[in-house]
Amino acid sequence: MGFNLQNVVPWGRSFDEYCAMFTLSELDLQKSIVGVGDGPASFNAVLTGQGGQIISADPVYAFNSKQIRQRIDALFNDMVKQVAANADNLRLDKFGSADALGKIRMQAMNQFLQDFDKGKLQDRYLDSELPALPFDKGQFDLALCSHLLFLYSEHLELDFHIEAVLELCRVAKEVRIFPLLDLSHRTSAHLEPVLQALAQSDFIANIEVVEYEFQIGANQMLRIQPAK
Ligand SMILES: C[S@@+](CC[C@H](N)C(=O)[O-])C[C@H]1O[C@@H](n2cnc3c(N)ncnc32)[C@H](O)[C@@H]1O
Repeated sequence: MGFNLQNVVPWGRSFDEYCAMFTLSELDLQKSIVGVGDGPASFNAVLTGQGGQIISADPVYAFNSKQIRQRIDALFNDMVKQVAANADNLRLDKFGSADALGKIRMQAMNQFLQDFDKGKLQDRYLDSELPALPFDKGQFDLALCSHLLFLYSEHLELDFHIEAVLELCRVAKEVRIFPLLDLSHRTSAHLEPVLQALAQSDFIANIEVVEYEFQIGANQMLRIQPAK
C-alpha cells in the first residue's frame, strides 16, 4: 500500500522549535544535516535561508505544494480545536493559547510551502522514507528526527524502530531524536529495546533533557553517536 496523503496530519514545527528540541548550537547549524520526517516544518526553509546545508526526507514530498496546502487547510481548524481540548496534557502556557500556537504552526507551514517547489528542484526535499534512505554511509554530520519515531509507537512496530534508528546511524555521524514519549504521554515501550540494539551495534546513546517541552513530560532527546 502506498503512502496516502489522507493519513497525514500536517502540523509543521518552526525553526525555533527544532533548535530547542534538538539543542542545536551555532556550530550544529553549520553542519550538513538530514531531517527525516520533516513534513511541513519550516526548519529546512529557514536554515537554507541562513546558508545552512540541509536535506529533508519524507514520503509526503511525493505530493505537490497545492495538494499539501489543501490538506493543511482541511485539517487546520480541527487541529487547533484538538489542542485546546487536550490542553491538560500540553504546555500551552509556553505558546499563550491554542490559537497562538496555531498561528506559529501556520506561519511555519507557510514558510515551508513558499520554499517547497524551489527546494524540491534543488533536491532539498526528497520523497523517501525510513527504514531505507537513499543516502551514502556517513553522508551527513547530523540526522534529526522530530515527532515520528517513539511518538508513533502504536503505529510503528519495534522492528521498524530498530531498523529506522540504525538507518539514521548509517547515514549520519550523529543522530538526535525527539520526543521519547508516545501519543499516550508515556515513555515509548520501544525505547529500551532500541537502546539495547544500539549498544549491541556499538553505538553510544544518551538521553538528554532539553529546554523544549510541549507535550507535558516530553523534554528528553536521544543523542546517538558511534562508540569510538
Ligand atoms: C507529526 S509529523 C512531524 C513533522 C515535523 N518533523 C515536525 O516535527 O514538525 C510526522 C512526519 O513523518 C512523516 N513520515 C511518516 N512515515 C515516515 C517514514 N517512514 N519515514 C519518514 N517520514 C515519515 C510524515 O509524512 C509526517 O510529515
